[in-house]
Amino acid sequence: MTLAQSVEQVFQEKFKEQALLVRSPGRVNLIGEHTDYNKGFVLPAAIDKSITLAISPRNDRHCSMFAMDMNEAHEFSIDDLHSTPKGWPNYLMGVVDQFVKAQYPIQGFHCVFGGDIPIGAGMSSSAALEAGLAFALNTLFHLHIDRLTLVKMAQKAENVFVGVQCGIMDQYINIFGKQDNVLRIDCRTLEYQYYPFAFHNISVVLFDTRVSHSLASSEYNRRREECSEGVAVIKKMYPEVNSLRDVTCDMLHQCRDRMDPTVYRRCKYVVEENERVLHACGDLEKGDLKSFGAAMKKTHAGLSGDYEVSCKELDFLVDLMSSDPQVYGSRMMGGGFGGCTINLIEKNHVEEVSSFAAVRYKQKFNIDLKTYITSIGPGTRIIAGSGHEKD
Ligand code: GLA
Repeated sequence: MTLAQSVEQVFQEKFKEQALLVRSPGRVNLIGEHTDYNKGFVLPAAIDKSITLAISPRNDRHCSMFAMDMNEAHEFSIDDLHSTPKGWPNYLMGVVDQFVKAQYPIQGFHCVFGGDIPIGAGMSSSAALEAGLAFALNTLFHLHIDRLTLVKMAQKAENVFVGVQCGIMDQYINIFGKQDNVLRIDCRTLEYQYYPFAFHNISVVLFDTRVSHSLASSEYNRRREECSEGVAVIKKMYPEVNSLRDVTCDMLHQCRDRMDPTVYRRCKYVVEENERVLHACGDLEKGDLKSFGAAMKKTHAGLSGDYEVSCKELDFLVDLMSSDPQVYGSRMMGGGFGGCTINLIEKNHVEEVSSFAAVRYKQKFNIDLKTYITSIGPGTRIIAGSGHEKD
């Protein structure tokens, strides 16, 4: 039985009616880390790991949700939204909250969801839940909200209801992802461009450190503040600057003496990373994976040394891959302080490279490394509708 079928089956058992089925993917990010909230560039892709949501409308204001993977239910009224220590319902209620605030005419609903995006590994299971529900509600209640607005609502759900000041990348790629393509998002203009990622001899492999340091979200918010501090200093000399996206290495250098050294390093990383993304897109167009991989390496060095969001487990894995000729690029991925490294590995050598990494990782940290071989798939979409999807 496929994942979608088992979600549908549980839905039928619980609610005895037909459901709209929406498949919402996780994501990888090839390059462009911690740049989204600095209005810079990112280069993510939707992957084949996903959450399926089965959903049907009710005629009242009540919502009844069931998380298959947790085997937990949660009920709430649209008119009484407040966060819960249970965790996962907040992602969904946060989205409902956005629909209510924007005064879209929604009703209550039944929802069952389950999936195979590992939680806490940096593949954006939370964005998949948020954007997946936003997409589903839009379809279910025939709201005709455009895709970019859905993205923004899903991001806001996380900012407001969950309290993580995340940027827009994860929700954006979730909705706009395209099979075999990476997406360059300009987080200032919110324009995008697809780049085919058609290297048939290459696998995108994630090594999951299986550590998740408790600092992650407070340090994430702290990095945002440090970047704003940097912008405030630079703005004194260059009033036209509104974000690190508007800053060149030269400008930053001019302001160095006026800046706290830590803030300077944070800014330096972001300014360099934006340049790297643009250059890396050129590499993709030329099919130059070597140069692309070299950029990934530099990104990791910056994230670890200047931005300080890596950890010893991530650094170890990246370092381990650095001299392997079968590995084109390797770096930590996502917010940091744990989660996965992303590796571009020659297809024929994936098994050998992965077992080598697993053995060495176990020796060093006594943790069983998890490996995910991903493929680039489409963004959130309807997979079965029972008529709900008509308009
Ligand atoms: C998390 C956030 C994203 C982005 C990355 C870092 O995944 O949700 O918005 O900032 O970290 O690139």
